[in-house]
Amino acid sequence: MTRLYNFSAGPSSIPGPVLSRARDELLDWHGCGLSVLEMSHRGKEFHSIAEKIESDLRALLGVPDTHRILFLQGGATTQFSLIPMNLSGKGRTASYVDTGYWSRKAIQEGRKLCDVQIAASSENLNDYSLPSSENWVINVSADYLHYTANETIEGMEFSGVPDSNGVPLVCDMSSNILSGPIDVERYALIYAGAQKNLGAAGITLVLIREDMLGRVSGELPSVFSYLEYAENRSLVNTPPTFIWYLMGLVIEWIDEQGGLDAVAATNTAKATKLYQAIDRSEFYSNKVKVDARSRMNIPFVLADADLSDYFILEAEKNGLVNLRGHRSVGGMRASLYNAMPESGVDCLVSFMNEFERRNG
Ligand SMILES: Cc1ncc(COP(=O)(O)O)c(C=O)c1O
Repeated sequence: MTRLYNFSAGPSSIPGPVLSRARDELLDWHGCGLSVLEMSHRGKEFHSIAEKIESDLRALLGVPDTHRILFLQGGATTQFSLIPMNLSGKGRTASYVDTGYWSRKAIQEGRKLCDVQIAASSENLNDYSLPSSENWVINVSADYLHYTANETIEGMEFSGVPDSNGVPLVCDMSSNILSGPIDVERYALIYAGAQKNLGAAGITLVLIREDMLGRVSGELPSVFSYLEYAENRSLVNTPPTFIWYLMGLVIEWIDEQGGLDAVAATNTAKATKLYQAIDRSEFYSNKVKVDARSRMNIPFVLADADLSDYFILEAEKNGLVNLRGHRSVGGMRASLYNAMPESGVDCLVSFMNEFERRNG
């Protein structure tokens, strides 16, 4: 069997060793005679799986005792609503930074539940760049400040943690979580869907500072309440147990790679290779300002846009799949999450060089 190099933005590549281990353990998890797929979420076997995942993640990411780890459903999109429902509300204000497609989705949903103040917007900058956090105008009485660490579609990523001027900082890290170390202490809440760097679609990670739970209204329906999840080890109802377990295997795999510093170095090396290939050619281009370029999602266009479909077709013939850019922007996009090996980037770069030689 040949596995393809999958450059999809999500669901995306899962490390081969993780899939092999899930296969090996599928019928009989650790000799208990049951598959994880069949276990009760309240039984002792699943309890031990969930406990290990939480402690492995705490160790890998350095999650301090001040923060709780929740495993939720509904994808990152559900968090666009749960965050204002739990931490803000009608007649109250939350600040948002508008940097692209996903932050705008969060803003759109936020507006239904609280007053949204836009602290900064990349739309005003007229190019593919991120508004410098020094120039953000944050409402200091806002319930939180929301930003998107990596805009998956535009291919723009913040480096470092912005100064929120004392306002609780909330971050969508769906497309760059665990791509390197994170200073969790600086955040009131971090959330991320799993289908990029955490495994498969169906579970959403939320890291929330304990004091934020004090704001959650008891009037909220249980399945929407962070407090309920925190008090019930994320078992308010039946969770996606297998996807949760798979996330645990991904966390162990990252640890085996040498942890987050090692993974970050590889991610930088992979992205650098691809950006260099794009930049040294007149045939390919990437519009994003250099200091805003994402290490995870790299969009590019061809000088002759009419060749795009042919590029994608030829790439597929070479085992390089899911390179089409998001429908809202077109062109191409290579997503280089943790599970994309360096050899995948090498293959893509040699394919691009050869395609240019033949069609440039
Ligand atoms: C940055 C970001 N936020 C939110 C989402 C939405 O995630 P979901 O489809 O899991 O709701 C995505 C999906 O690609 C994303 O990239």
